[in-house]
Amino acid sequence: MEMITLNNGIEMPLLGLGVLRTTADETEEMVKTALLNDYRLIDTAAGYMNEKAVGKGIKASGIPRKEIFLTSKLWITDTGYENTLKAFERTLKLLDTNYLDLWLIHQPYGDVFGSWKAMNELLDKKLIRAIGVSNFYEDQLMNLICNGGGVVPAVNQIETHIYKQNRKELEFMTQEGITMEAWSPFASGIENVFENEILMDMATKRNVSVSQIILRWLTQRGIIAIPKTTHVNRMIENINSFDFKLTDSDMEIISQLNKDHSVYPSHRDPEFIKMLSQQKLTFEV
Ligand SMILES: NC(=O)c1ccc[n+]([C@@H]2O[C@H](COP(=O)([O-])OP(=O)(O)OC[C@H]3O[C@@H](n4cnc5c(N)ncnc54)[C@H](OP(=O)(O)O)[C@@H]3O)[C@@H](O)[C@H]2O)c1
Repeated sequence: MEMITLNNGIEMPLLGLGVLRTTADETEEMVKTALLNDYRLIDTAAGYMNEKAVGKGIKASGIPRKEIFLTSKLWITDTGYENTLKAFERTLKLLDTNYLDLWLIHQPYGDVFGSWKAMNELLDKKLIRAIGVSNFYEDQLMNLICNGGGVVPAVNQIETHIYKQNRKELEFMTQEGITMEAWSPFASGIENVFENEILMDMATKRNVSVSQIILRWLTQRGIIAIPKTTHVNRMIENINSFDFKLTDSDMEIISQLNKDHSVYPSHRDPEFIKMLSQQKLTFEV
């Protein structure tokens, strides 16, 4: 597995498994299967309501915790200094672990500054190895860097795929020492990315799959990818995407596919922010 070094010196796998929208049973099985097939990065969130199942999958795999890079995310209604400390305890309990490798503020809303202060303290206490954010754009990142009173986020996880390439965002984050992590690297599978003729042609010529071309296009540029799949054959296909290199010409061709098109509601849409803010989560710990 290729690794990337984050801005605090911690090494993170460039490819992992995402578990959004999977049931508890599916999640447990996926996590176990992925770990037994050489995955070492798992991406979950309080908001996915499956942290407990992730913890069970890790235990069932028998892979030692210290070999696994575990990411979770703080939900919008848990922001604020005290709430964040409470949410962290709950997340650790649900995941059945005593530390996180990476904890992200899931959305750039709520009391982000209170949360950042709490997360910096947890980082200092070595209860989290790296802290970061998700769905933050340049203005929000700069605000946190300048006014957050703590460290620069190690990672920003944002929607990134062939139809939403975020080249300007990547340039900014690289300049600020923030690693980009691509959520929905296959555009959630709802935009026919696997049937794109240009990518199919590129894949056929190299005797690889379209999924492998897409993942290599990300990881070769130092972008972490967390594709979701419930199928073991696809998990194996996705993780085996490191043993070839795309040329500059391939990269240029793929860059032409960009449409700046999201497959999700915008995190800048007031109605979406309102909807997220009204989703108070309840957990059985
Ligand atoms: N931070 C955020 O706000 C945020 C938001 C969205 C997502 N995420 C993270 O990003 C992860 C991935 O995003 P996503 O779940 O939206 O979707 P995705 O990874 O872009 O796409 C998943 C889809 O692709 C299919 N697929 C996966 N590998 C394949 C392969 N090799 N060949 C053919 N089809 C394949 C899956 O089908 P099967 O499952 O049927 O195989 C599924 O339909 C999430 O699980 C989550 O961890 C974060």
